Amino acid sequence: MDFSAIKHAASLLRRDQVIGIPTETVYGLGGSARSKKAIQTIYDLKSRPATNPLIIHVSQTSAIYDWAREVPKSALLLAQKFWPGPLTLVLPKHPDVLSMVTANQDTVALRVPSHPVTLALLNEFGEGIAAPSANRSGHISPTRSDHVRAEFGDMLKYILEGGPCQIGIESTIVYLGNSEAILLRPGTITAEDLEDTLGFPLSAPKKGLGETPGSHFLHYAPNQPLSILDETALLDRVSQFTKEHTPVAVLAFRNHPLFQENEYVYWIQAEEEALQYAHSLYHHLRLLDTHTPTPFRILIEAPPRTPAFEAVWDRLQRASGKKPSKYGIDLVL
Ligand code: TXA
Ligand code: MG
Repeated sequence: MDFSAIKHAASLLRRDQVIGIPTETVYGLGGSARSKKAIQTIYDLKSRPATNPLIIHVSQTSAIYDWAREVPKSALLLAQKFWPGPLTLVLPKHPDVLSMVTANQDTVALRVPSHPVTLALLNEFGEGIAAPSANRSGHISPTRSDHVRAEFGDMLKYILEGGPCQIGIESTIVYLGNSEAILLRPGTITAEDLEDTLGFPLSAPKKGLGETPGSHFLHYAPNQPLSILDETALLDRVSQFTKEHTPVAVLAFRNHPLFQENEYVYWIQAEEEALQYAHSLYHHLRLLDTHTPTPFRILIEAPPRTPAFEAVWDRLQRASGKKPSKYGIDLVL
């Protein structure tokens, strides 16, 4: 680990600067959670609506009490089981938390990340780091430092290098209220994982829990239009596009040599296994989106409709601009 880089990053955070930081899920745009200036810079850089709150990253579970005014037993159970790791807890906010961070809501989102570089940075800095994913609002989240550079260029002065993100999609978010728990964003820690640890079922989502990623249907989105199709429909569309000499970019489970050799087709083979699929999803979407010639459409083969792929379905459906529904519906062009 490059300790001089970590020290430099911490010194920038102390000076209210915003930097790119690695985490095990996706790269973040990090600033001191106690600095109004840093928080404003984060919103400005992302063009993020002021109504969409930020996650505060802390170095250890005990820090939860600096940011939350009530910590139900269920929160401690989940923290003990899944922290450090890709889980964000939404709890009643401590009065000292800047209202800009929580977008004036009465709750705060907290997580202890597991990336060793992020943890070293948090320890060196000694305060909470507010960090949304390091992408322009609505765009594909970054899983490599190059992705962050592609999003912000010179606007961002420093990116702390942490290699490719191990998990590759954002943390699971769960709201913990009075003896209830509500899943706000699916992730690689699944609903079943949460229920097993809590010992009671998750409650259905309800209005008034703040602005979650669900409020914006077009999210995690490439610049080119994206559609999700089952294999047969996808192959039909690709052969039609090739006949018309229309460039198309494809993420599919099987290879089809006929298409792969076609100059109008850019083909990436997807991993079969859900965690591996999630790991490379955003990298693949960026490759598909930025390929030359520019694809007229990005076609994604529908993944298996199983709980293991729930988080992937959520991201794909939002990337296509459709309202997410539990990996149920067939989407056609
Ligand atoms: O894995 C992750 O969670 C990454 C890394 C960098 O930690 N962060 C991330 O942040 O995905 P962001 O801002 O892109 O997504 C966090 C989502 C936001 O869409 C926001 O709506 C929701 O968390 N959120 C934050 N605070 C909340 C709150 N108090 N109540 C409900 N939702 C909240
Ligand atoms: Mg985001």
